[in-house]
Amino acid sequence: MKIQSSVALVSGANRGLGAAFVRGLLAGGAAKVYAGARDPNTVNVPGAVPVQLDVTRPEQIAHLARELTDVTLLVNNAGISEIGPVLATSAIDSLRRQFDTNTIGPLRLAQAFAPVLAGNGGGAVVSVLSALSWLTLPGRTGAYSASKAAGWALSNALRHELKSQHTQLLSLHAGFIDTDMARHVPGPKSTPEEIVRQTLAALEAGESELLADAVSREVHRGLTAERPVYLGTPE
Ligand SMILES: NC(=O)c1ccc[n+]([C@@H]2O[C@H](COP(=O)([O-])OP(=O)(O)OC[C@H]3O[C@@H](n4cnc5c(N)ncnc54)[C@H](OP(=O)(O)O)[C@@H]3O)[C@@H](O)[C@H]2O)c1
Repeated sequence: MKIQSSVALVSGANRGLGAAFVRGLLAGGAAKVYAGARDPNTVNVPGAVPVQLDVTRPEQIAHLARELTDVTLLVNNAGISEIGPVLATSAIDSLRRQFDTNTIGPLRLAQAFAPVLAGNGGGAVVSVLSALSWLTLPGRTGAYSASKAAGWALSNALRHELKSQHTQLLSLHAGFIDTDMARHVPGPKSTPEEIVRQTLAALEAGESELLADAVSREVHRGLTAERPVYLGTPE
């Protein structure tokens, strides 16, 4: 997938990683970048084309797929993170909200735009996942991790199904990124710009999966450790 002359649609493009994707794509030579946002008036990247997109609203997704027929790259970036134990009574509602936004929304966008991408020669879809697709921070990220784990499984399914139409599916995993979502998290964080730089390079290299920082690589390695990382430390 070449960034030069591509036409991208980025969800959650008004701030954080999404806004960095819009800037990076334009700087990388994209012909057009549609910046999807729940409120398009909050998009403030010069050169971007703001479009209304709430990923939990099927009618908005269907409308965009009818209108934006030149898209060659879909960046499924929009996401929410709600912290809390899964034993809390509020966890079911929280799980539903996070699945709607982090799991079902991206799938619905991929479904709607697959024919558009096929019609434009194949193109690519980026799934913004997380190191927390493979790991839960005890008592905190159970529902978020579940939504990203399901997003990971669906991205693997989509990769197979999109292959015959020559659409590349790139899954992006990272630990903490310096955005509003991780504002209250202490410790090292990647810059959104660095994550975007690596993602665009991985797209150009035709890759299927990007582990964009040391944390995601360590968690991934830990899946096959003698005591797998998701079991945590013994009592
Ligand atoms: N930050 C991290 O540490 C980290 C690490 C790994 C992966 N990620 C993933 O990276 C992606 C971007 O997150 P971020 O760090 O940039 O978070 P962020 O700063 O909180 O931004 C989230 C973006 O998603 C949008 N959004 C939320 N719900 C939406 C909906 N229903 N429809 C459309 N847009 C919606 C927000 O729009 P509004 O302004 O309207 O709320 C905002 O633009 C997410 O998928 C997140 O899970 C983040």
